[in-house]
Amino acid sequence: MLLAQIPNYYKARREALMKARPNSVFLIPSNSEVVRNSDVHYLFRQESHFRYLCGLEEPDAFLVLAPSKSLAGAFRTILFIRTKDVEKEMWQGERYGVEGALEIFGANEAYPIEELDKRLPELFSGADRVFYRLGVDPKCDARVIRALDANRASSGRSGKGLLPIEDAQTVIGEMRLYKAPEEIELHRKACQITAAAHKSVMKEVKPGMGEHEIEALIDYLFRKNGCDRVAYPTIAAGGKNATCLHYQHNNCVLKDGELLLIDAGGEYQCYAADITRTYPIGRDFTKAQANLYDLTLKSQKEAVAMTKPGVKLADIHKHVYEVLTEGLLSLGLLQGNRDEIIKNLGFKRFFPHNTSHWMGLDVHDAGLYFQNGEPRTLEPGMFFSVEPGLYVQPNDKDAPASFRNIGIRIEDDILVTQTGCENLTKDAPKEREEIVALRS
Ligand code: GLY
Ligand code: MN
Ligand code: MN
Repeated sequence: MLLAQIPNYYKARREALMKARPNSVFLIPSNSEVVRNSDVHYLFRQESHFRYLCGLEEPDAFLVLAPSKSLAGAFRTILFIRTKDVEKEMWQGERYGVEGALEIFGANEAYPIEELDKRLPELFSGADRVFYRLGVDPKCDARVIRALDANRASSGRSGKGLLPIEDAQTVIGEMRLYKAPEEIELHRKACQITAAAHKSVMKEVKPGMGEHEIEALIDYLFRKNGCDRVAYPTIAAGGKNATCLHYQHNNCVLKDGELLLIDAGGEYQCYAADITRTYPIGRDFTKAQANLYDLTLKSQKEAVAMTKPGVKLADIHKHVYEVLTEGLLSLGLLQGNRDEIIKNLGFKRFFPHNTSHWMGLDVHDAGLYFQNGEPRTLEPGMFFSVEPGLYVQPNDKDAPASFRNIGIRIEDDILVTQTGCENLTKDAPKEREEIVALRS
């Protein structure tokens, strides 16, 4: 079904971008369909910068923002798009066409995508620089460079060289880092659906079920409740599979006495949720499982509690690895001097990843982690994961046998507010007693 109109905030985002970088041309390609096998394509997911600035969910489109030739300070939104085509629409579904680009997506000008190469050189006139993300698609890079060269050639003996290209990722990523109210509402919805799905599945898990069933159940609940798709492939990892950080096979049977780690998030109108919960497949945690769980949870809750404007993700990560190191020392999994272990990153044997990543349209969202060489400071509107984990590898002969094969991660999605933070995924239970009670 086609949209009748899109919200005004897309235009406002384009205006903010062109105000931040006047006299610039932005080149933002959409994603294309990708062949999976034979005549089958991967499910289409729009490129996130394009989605953020335009809202169009079609492949084979190209957004250009360019300075206005006639009105100083003004800019043109030019959308290249697939044309309407009765025959193709019968096979592939309705298209917006050039008319839709103008009337629904608010382009000032719209052209068939086939005219991109012909029209692009002219769109650079009057600009001082170009923002484009080089290195993603070599074919598209070649088109852009050809168009820039044609533009330079048309400048004759004016002395103008090739316009400089700057990374569009940096400037659009910076905007995307600060979530606007309408984006927070979409994240809230993704997080609510995801938390409720985790809670429901938590009640269903039993020994003998397959990891694939857990994946299917959670996917069903995401889709049933309004998510378009998963934000990333679900990890449903029983027992030692949870010690593999990006486990994706989801093809083993769940065993009594082991833990299940589920890392799954729905995507709502392209905005991601990202929750991990870990709990017993049978009735209760073993002592070793409970010890590692309580330690992971302590570090996670303290990390969330310290989140507020002015704090840095690096401070949060540091606090997490300090808490984990101290706990691992008292459990006998690490030996030696606390400060030496921290200095030498000895905790990485059990906690090899970071605590946080930005979240947004991409589950690992755009936005720089450093500014002027320093870890950046949190500000209201930033949104990120807090996800400490402990993993004792099956082949870690130096770890006591009772701890081996255990993988635990606890992950929530945290919004920085004016005074502190809000945990948008708090409805997914994570207290040990609450989980056990829910499952008995
Ligand atoms: N699910 C991806 C991540 O936790 O980063
Ligand atoms: Mn995750
Ligand atoms: Mn994550």
